[in-house]
Amino acid sequence: MSAIIIDGKAISLKVREEVRPRAAGLRARGIIPCLAVILVGEDPASLSYVTAKEKALAEAEMASRDFRLPASTTEKELLTLINRLNADVNVHGILVQLPLPAHISEERVITAIDPQKDVDGFHPVSVGNMVLGRPGFLPCTPHGVLVLLRELKIPTAGAHAVVLGRSNIVGKPLANLLTRRDVNATVTICHTGTKDLSAITRQADILIAAVGRAGLVTADMVKEGAAVIDVGVNRVTDPSAKKGYWLRGDVDYEAVAEKAAYITPVPGGVGPMTIAMLLQNVVEAAERFAESRGRFAGSAEFSC
Ligand code: GUN
Repeated sequence: MSAIIIDGKAISLKVREEVRPRAAGLRARGIIPCLAVILVGEDPASLSYVTAKEKALAEAEMASRDFRLPASTTEKELLTLINRLNADVNVHGILVQLPLPAHISEERVITAIDPQKDVDGFHPVSVGNMVLGRPGFLPCTPHGVLVLLRELKIPTAGAHAVVLGRSNIVGKPLANLLTRRDVNATVTICHTGTKDLSAITRQADILIAAVGRAGLVTADMVKEGAAVIDVGVNRVTDPSAKKGYWLRGDVDYEAVAEKAAYITPVPGGVGPMTIAMLLQNVVEAAERFAESRGRFAGSAEFSC
């Protein structure tokens, strides 16, 4: 078997095209959807991610305010900035690129973001809403994976989905979303404590790798005909590469593509979906702001 290659770029463009008129509608009402993007330090991968996010916002005619802070920034300084952005009515979303330098508590920083502006879906309130199936912002990468499965019409109901990795950003929320009634997969999460990993991955109808280890998933770990979603983006050093490194996923792509029915490439698979879902969340945040402002204006009129 040779797998169908899932074109995340094409599907992400479709999502972005749906976002465009919504952003235009807001602009017509004098509201420019705006995301504050905070990067602390100079991690090259993080820098390339935030640059890509800001470029996508500009292409959708949305605004971004970028804050590039030195690695020496204190937690207090970062929290002060977040409080300022929480209070700024012209900012609809706040994104703090992770990971943060070790001296800053990610938990305190994420919790400081106003949940109404938490377009990453990382705040405990957003996580709680997601788990309870209530409206709220869904984390971008897991949401993007669900959209890929839906767009490709990959059957999920009753499927055994195996998620490799238990991060707060991908593994945990993705496992949760896969159990939603409208997805209805049976989910196994594997992590560093898992025994006989291959025995479990070989049972997967849908195998999702999100561990951050290049080539971890080899062909012998994959069931014939499985859908394989590769969330990993790893820089593998190679002096012969133009940039000095190659981007590789967590999956041994060439060999697994011979066995799977569907596979996402790296780059060009899940990555573009993360950005598209972020744009969707930003426009959603701005729409909610517009709605609440409308209600507020209405009630003010009423009370006069
Ligand atoms: N680091 C890796 N992925 C993400 C993401 O989706 N959002 C943020 N803020 N940081 C990340």
